[in-house]
Amino acid sequence: MKDEIRDIIVKYGKDILLSDEFQETFSQTHHMSTTVGDHTLGVAAEAVKICLRHGLTDDETLRNTVAASLCHDLGIMGREEKFNNNVQCLVRHPKQSAESYISMTGEQNERVLDSILCHMFPLKIRFPRYKEGWILTLADKIGASREKIGRPSVTASDRDELMRAASRFIKRARDEDC
Ligand SMILES: [Fe+2]
Ligand SMILES: [Fe+2]
Repeated sequence: MKDEIRDIIVKYGKDILLSDEFQETFSQTHHMSTTVGDHTLGVAAEAVKICLRHGLTDDETLRNTVAASLCHDLGIMGREEKFNNNVQCLVRHPKQSAESYISMTGEQNERVLDSILCHMFPLKIRFPRYKEGWILTLADKIGASREKIGRPSVTASDRDELMRAASRFIKRARDEDC
């Protein structure tokens, strides 16, 4: 992963990345060969790449895109207990992800919420209303396709470096406050 992409994910997603709920996502398998957490990091990386490629680099777009990417599949956690089958999981997890985003961050950003709720388009016919939603939808498809052919967007060392960078960022901010 390029430093620029990692730095953007860390800058806007550090609190989510280091939360207990997000750390849990590395314990559940997803798309057979990966975990919910690694899939999510891959989607965030693809989404930031799309933003950079199209000059969508304003603070608000990057912040919303990173938050929506990191939270879009949180609702899949505990799928065996929550859903009776794959169709139910496909249909219901976006709403549960949106609820997790609210409870984790304490925020209710309309653009982030809509992006999470619509990310299964076109499998689920709910059109994204904002550019962040289209970016997430596309990044999710790219990430999932790469995982299914055994070429995930992030490696284990990308993941470890992201987490270390997020911890360093928060420590630096605390030190500056003192
Ligand atoms: Fe999803
Ligand atoms: Fe996903």
